[in-house]
Amino acid sequence: MLSQQENEMLTRVGRGTPMGELMRRYWIPAAFSHQIAEPDGPPMRVRLMGENLVLFRDTQGRIGLIDERCPHRTASMFFGRNEGSGLRCVYHGLKFDVDGNCVDVPCVPQASDVQIRNIRSQLKIKAYPCIERGDVVWTYMGPPEHKPEFPDLEWTRIPASQRFATRHIQECNWLQGLEGGFDATHLTFLHGGDAEKSRRIVATRYEVMPTDFGFMVGTGRDQGNGDILWNVNVMLMPFHKIISSMPHAAHVWAPIDDENTMLYSIDFSPSRPLTEEDLARTKAWRGIHTENIPGTDHAIRNKGNDYLIDRALQASGKSYTGMTGLGTQDCAIQESMGLIADRTAEHLLACDAAIVKIRRLLLQTLKDHAAGKALPGMRPDSYRVRSVRYEAPTGEPIAAIMNERVRIDTPVAAK
Ligand code: FES
Ligand SMILES: [Fe+2]
Repeated sequence: MLSQQENEMLTRVGRGTPMGELMRRYWIPAAFSHQIAEPDGPPMRVRLMGENLVLFRDTQGRIGLIDERCPHRTASMFFGRNEGSGLRCVYHGLKFDVDGNCVDVPCVPQASDVQIRNIRSQLKIKAYPCIERGDVVWTYMGPPEHKPEFPDLEWTRIPASQRFATRHIQECNWLQGLEGGFDATHLTFLHGGDAEKSRRIVATRYEVMPTDFGFMVGTGRDQGNGDILWNVNVMLMPFHKIISSMPHAAHVWAPIDDENTMLYSIDFSPSRPLTEEDLARTKAWRGIHTENIPGTDHAIRNKGNDYLIDRALQASGKSYTGMTGLGTQDCAIQESMGLIADRTAEHLLACDAAIVKIRRLLLQTLKDHAAGKALPGMRPDSYRVRSVRYEAPTGEPIAAIMNERVRIDTPVAAK
């Protein structure tokens, strides 16, 4: 259980909020590169961290992410003309480049050169720097002097043929997604099929440790022979998860605003192109992410149709939920907790130990940030990690082993 104030601190992401300012110290995904593939192509609306923005690729292929509001009389730049190295507002023709500079003011032909220069210097539009990595456009919305190098996220550094990425909107706060991602207990219930079996294989040990990239969440099951089977998941600041599976997978919970989240899901192989079988398996188990309403980021199975729940399937015992696809199940249950879950109303149990520790670590990171202390994940090579699964004898130094196991030995090659 959290206090109302703690819940607010962890969930709100608008400018000026503690979590909003912390997240703005990291690179945030804004869109897929293919969504603005063509130079001078149509601009795209992007809502990110509670800010309404417009994304475009200019004549030279440079990417601009600017305020949706034209600084002249606040018309939407979404309707703008993307031409001649800038985006032109169609209300009165003011034009801005990718850095937010006003480069043309055609609506005051009577103005002198000096006057035009003054107008241009006053009418800068807010613009955030962007970078393309892993076929995703990332932006940095924090103080320019703190802009970190882009991190060595493994899935962004491999050829496109080794990666399959989708995204969809979750109608709830980002932290519900992240907490669901690191909630080991739900795997055997929400995603399981057999309630009795589930009861027996629930983990009994939970270790959450801060690291130089974020934190590790280890859940352990006693094997009955003196060994513990550890499942260690890595959380890379501020909202990334790498999942150890074959192929590997990653999630990014990028806040659209306090009550909506863009979940990016990526399957990847570090060593080879993905096969047809990989893709078929991925699509089958994800469910939701591969089936968006065409032309939108909204899933076909959504809140409005109760995720197409099949009560007969649920009753048959073949599915715990009657909802098909892990992604659909996660989305349904996380959205069902409300737009921003009221964590003052919870009754936490022993199986929530990891969630409790994750919240404490995030709260501590917020305090550290407010105190001007160094943040995790600022060094690009700290992100060279993967989630792992291994057995170790009871009593071995847990933290040291985990820390060693999650590191990727060989640096991945840059694309
Ligand atoms: S409102 Fe954009 S040019 Fe006037
Ligand atoms: Fe899940």
